[in-house]
Order: sequence, then structure tokens, then C-alpha cells
Amino acid sequence: MIPVVLLVTAFVSVILVTLFIIYQTTPKGKAIPGLKPVDFNGTGNLDKIEASGSLHQFLKQLHQQYGPIASFWFGNKYTVSVASPDMLNDLKGVFDRPPELFISLLPILGSESIQFKNGEEGRKRRKATDSAFGHSMLRHFCENFNEIAEETVQTLAALPQEEGIPLCEHTMVMAIKGIAQTSFGPYFKSDEACRKLRYNYDVCFREMEKRLDGMPLKVGSDRQKKFDEALQTIKEMVKDIIKEKQQTISQQKAFIDILINRSDIYPESTLLADAISYMVGGFHNSGYLLAWTLYFLAKDEQVQEKLYQEVISVAGRSSAIGPKEIAELRYLKQVLNEAMRITVPAAFAAKVQDVDIQLDGYLIPKGTPVITAYGAIHQNENLWPLPDKFDPERFNVENVKGRHQFAFQPFGLPARRCPGFRFTYYELTVYLAILIRSFKWSLVEGQVIKRKYGLATFPNTEIWAQIKRRDLFH
Ligand code: HEM
Repeated sequence: MIPVVLLVTAFVSVILVTLFIIYQTTPKGKAIPGLKPVDFNGTGNLDKIEASGSLHQFLKQLHQQYGPIASFWFGNKYTVSVASPDMLNDLKGVFDRPPELFISLLPILGSESIQFKNGEEGRKRRKATDSAFGHSMLRHFCENFNEIAEETVQTLAALPQEEGIPLCEHTMVMAIKGIAQTSFGPYFKSDEACRKLRYNYDVCFREMEKRLDGMPLKVGSDRQKKFDEALQTIKEMVKDIIKEKQQTISQQKAFIDILINRSDIYPESTLLADAISYMVGGFHNSGYLLAWTLYFLAKDEQVQEKLYQEVISVAGRSSAIGPKEIAELRYLKQVLNEAMRITVPAAFAAKVQDVDIQLDGYLIPKGTPVITAYGAIHQNENLWPLPDKFDPERFNVENVKGRHQFAFQPFGLPARRCPGFRFTYYELTVYLAILIRSFKWSLVEGQVIKRKYGLATFPNTEIWAQIKRRDLFH
């Protein structure tokens, strides 16, 4: 007979081993500081987001209160936000994004959009389309960008100057032409088509921002009718582009050709959804970024002059701006980066993982949306002293060397970086160089311009600029 003591020892050992296994496999970590929801099933902390004015401003306040990692309730979804370069570093390899956080984009982009695709499908699509925005394609695009900028110079020079010129109106047309002519063909050669797209896009985006800020749409309301009409117009325009493209044979394998030629991964509804996603993604941020950059330059004569001198020394007074000049216009890139840092065009993105993870000792349960609060990082005064001051020297070689690599991530983290990031630098470098060497810029006096943060960062009202032709001085 086995002695009782042996039985007890065996029993206790089994219990201890079981407890050890449970301990080892149970996720551990500190609790994440943050907000309690108003109610768990409905609004969560949406009231606080609305009161802050935008999700970006809410996240900034949240991190000021709770530190670099903080939690809140996005409706009924427990959500974590991170605003530290080290934590971004830990998330740099994550591809998937939580679709529920971007549900307000669903009506305009459609459920088949890349925006909502994770895992193998998302990666396969990005692999197919990223080549359309690589250096070799961008070399060809430079010609289009130069043409668009020179055309704009002619248009601006011909305008009556007494009241100034409406900046965003012109930069948005340039941005729409830039993405449309290079990636979608000649449909948007006409200014009228560009303005029509911009008007309808504005209606849709304002609507989606209202939803993102917690103002739901009432079925059958005027707001809904206006939105539906605007969205339908955009869809019709994109369908026309696809039809026109399908009837012509293109030598240049532009973005739309890839979609049309890869019917294995782009059946019709997917094609339409991604065409809209890339078109909208391709102009809404860059058009406003160009306007903001000119606004800062118009306010700062010294920076504008330094930039003008660089452009003249690299590209002369009339030569085209090509890839070589783009690489050499280093101060211009500093100016663009500083305008992006200060205005945070894409103030946040988000990641999700299907396993529990730990970030800096905090436990994040699987399936929790993790917001990467780029805007809060770009405006953090510990990383960027006097964060509201426009100072392109922050991006000179010396200063960049001394800074964390992930302190500036305007286009998102490496595993799913914005497909248009190189396109943006090429396009805006050409536009800015030509606009700055053609005109001296100032602002119409007495304007109060404020930033409105949303899916892009808009000025609260049109910016009116004054221009003087540079060639008349020489
Ligand atoms: C100032 C210019 C721009 C900024 C600041 C910007 C920023 C961003 C950011 C932060 C993301 C999210 C990345 C992530 O989830 O981590 C993104 C995604 C995206 N951007 Fe951009 N972007 C800009 C211009 C463009 C352009 C020119 C295009 C067109 C080619 C574009 C198309 C897209 C698309 C389609 C996505 C979604 C990609 C995906 O789901 O995998 N963006 N952008």
C-alpha cells in the first residue's frame, strides 16, 4: 500500500505544477491608467471626445493627464492609446488595424477598401499596389507635377491681386490633379472636374468627421440626403475614370492599371473601393499640407528667403525639378516636415493583435484597439520644445541625429506605412519649389486662422494669401 504521505506529496505536487502552469500562461502586467466609461454598453467616453473638439485633442489631453499609455472607452470598446516613441518602436512590426475604430469611413470607402483589410489579404494588396508609388514610377510623375505647378503659376499670376488669393482652393486643385493625373489618367485635367470632386469630397468628409466625433446621423435627415448625393457623385466620377481607362491601353503601369490588370485580387467592387480609398487618401492630406506650408512661409519671411535661395541654387530660376533636385532640396524637406509636425495631418492611426501583449510592463489584452497617437507625440513639449513654433531647424541633420527615430512618424509605422509617403515628398517638393521661386508670399492682414483637426487638419476658414511675382524683381 502506498503510504498516505506519498499520496499527499503527489497531490500537492500536481496542484503546485498546475498553479505554476496557470501562472506562466496567465497574462501579467500593470493596469493601464485611464478613463472610466459613462456607461459600458453605449457611449463610453464619446461625450469627452466631442467636448474636446476632436479625437486628436482628446488624445492629447488624455496623455497629458495619464502619461504615455492611457485607456478610454470608444463607445463600448475598451481602447488603449500610446504616445511614446519607445512604444511605437515596439509596435513597428504590427500590420493589422482595428476596423471598428474607422467605421465612420465605411460609407465613403466601402467595406472592401484596403482600410478594412488585415492579415494575408491586406498584405497581398499592399504588395501589388506599393510598386505604383516606388521611386521608378515617381521619376515619371515629376513631369506631371512640374506641369501642374507651372500651370498654377500662370493661373495665380492672372488673378486680380487686390483681395488676395484663396490658398486652399488652389492647393486642393493641385493635389487632386497630382494624384489623379499620375495614378488615374487624364480625367482630372480640367479644373472644373477637380472642383466638383473637391466639393463633394468636402461634404462627405465633414459628415464622416461628425460621426467620428460622436454625432450620429439621423436616417432620412437633410444631412443624410446631402451626404448620399455627394458620395454618389464621387462614385460616378470614379466609375467614369475606370471605364475610360479600361478602353485605353496604357504603357505606364500606373496605380489604376494595376487594379484593372489584377482581377484575381481586385474584382469590381474591390476595385471601386480601393480606387476611391487611394484617390481620397491621395489628395485630402497633401492639399491641406501644401496650404499650411505656404501659410507658415508667408508668415516667416526669413525662412521663406532661405528656402528661395536654396531653390535658386539647386534648380535655377526656371529649370524643371526632377529626382536629382528633389534629393538636393534638403532645407525644403525640413520645411515640409516641420509643417507636418505642427499641423499633424494624420494625427492618429491604430493597431490590433490577436494575442495578449505587454507594452512597457502594461498588459494589453488581445483584440484591444491600440491607437498610435502621432499627433500627441508630435506636439509633446518634452520632445519638441515650444511645439507651436514653426522652426524647420528641428529637422537639420544635427537635431535629427539626437532624436528618437520614432519621435516623428507622420506616415505611420513601417509594417503598414502610408503607401503615398514618397509620392507626397516628390509631389510637394516640386509644387513648393516652383511656387516659392515664382512668387514672394505674404498673408492678407487681419486673418485669424485656426487648425481644425479631423481626418485631415483643415484651416477653420479659407486662408487668403498675397503674392508678388519674383521674376519682376530681376
Ligand atoms: C500629407 C500627406 C499624407 C499623410 C500625412 C498620410 C498619412 C497616412 C497615415 C498615418 C496612414 C495610416 C498608416 C497606418 O495605419 O499606420 C495612411 C494610410 C493611407 N494613406 Fe496616406 N498620407 C498622406 C498622403 C497619401 C497619399 C498621397 C496617398 C495616395 C497614394 C495616400 C494613401 C493612403 C492609403 C490608401 C492609406 C491606407 C493604407 C492601408 O490601409 O494599408 N496617403 N496615410
